[in-house]
Amino acid sequence: MPVSAIGALSRRRLVWLAVFLACLVPLASLVWRFLADDLGSDPVETLIRSTGDWGIRFIVGGLMITPLRQMGWNAPARFRRMIGLYAFFYVCLHLTTYLVVDQGLDLPSIVGDILKRPYITVGMLAFVLLVPLAATSTAAMVRRLGARTWMMLHRLVYPIGVLAVIHYYLLVKADVTWPVIYGAILAFGLGWRLKEKLRRRPRTLRTGAVRP
Ligand code: HEM
Repeated sequence: MPVSAIGALSRRRLVWLAVFLACLVPLASLVWRFLADDLGSDPVETLIRSTGDWGIRFIVGGLMITPLRQMGWNAPARFRRMIGLYAFFYVCLHLTTYLVVDQGLDLPSIVGDILKRPYITVGMLAFVLLVPLAATSTAAMVRRLGARTWMMLHRLVYPIGVLAVIHYYLLVKADVTWPVIYGAILAFGLGWRLKEKLRRRPRTLRTGAVRP
């Protein structure tokens, strides 16, 4: 990029662009490894697992933005929408790899998997809930739905986080370290929100006491 063009961009925009590009690094790394024939002995498994890992990282990470802001760290808040959309993006890659590369779009086998394997059922449910969030992520949709409805709808991200952790927990055979770590971060994020909600409620509502 020419120096003059960089100068024209404000620092704020450059930071936004840097974060945007940084979020593409996992994909670039996978493409690079694919081209270098370096995806290990089971490339399909590597692709499914890596995209799933990034999907859950963006979901759980996105859920930590509000607690972090309330603790005084505001910087990540402006990337909330981007992070949510990247979560959707990586989960779409995850699902596409499963449907197209792993299952070869064999519909009966896919439906059988969804019905028979609980972790696939739960993952699919998480994906289905993610779709309306991605579809309503624009400012125009916020206006169209109204802020209140939009916020209610976007609370779906809490069950999505829970389902993503359950999906991961159910599929690991032995070492549950990572699903437990994501579960703990999620529990902290949701617990923090609940604590803040209760703290903000008027004292009368919390205690049931009526002022004289
Ligand atoms: C919000 C949605 C989802 C998230 C966040 C997610 C996340 C993950 C994670 C973290 C893993 C484990 C990666 C690892 O072992 O390092 C995984 C594996 C997997 N997921 Fe998902 N997933 C989601 C939805 C789905 C859906 C919709 C499907 C298919 C219908 C699916 C199919 C799979 C499969 C087949 C594996 C690999 C299992 C194995 O290697 O034995 N996931 N996913």
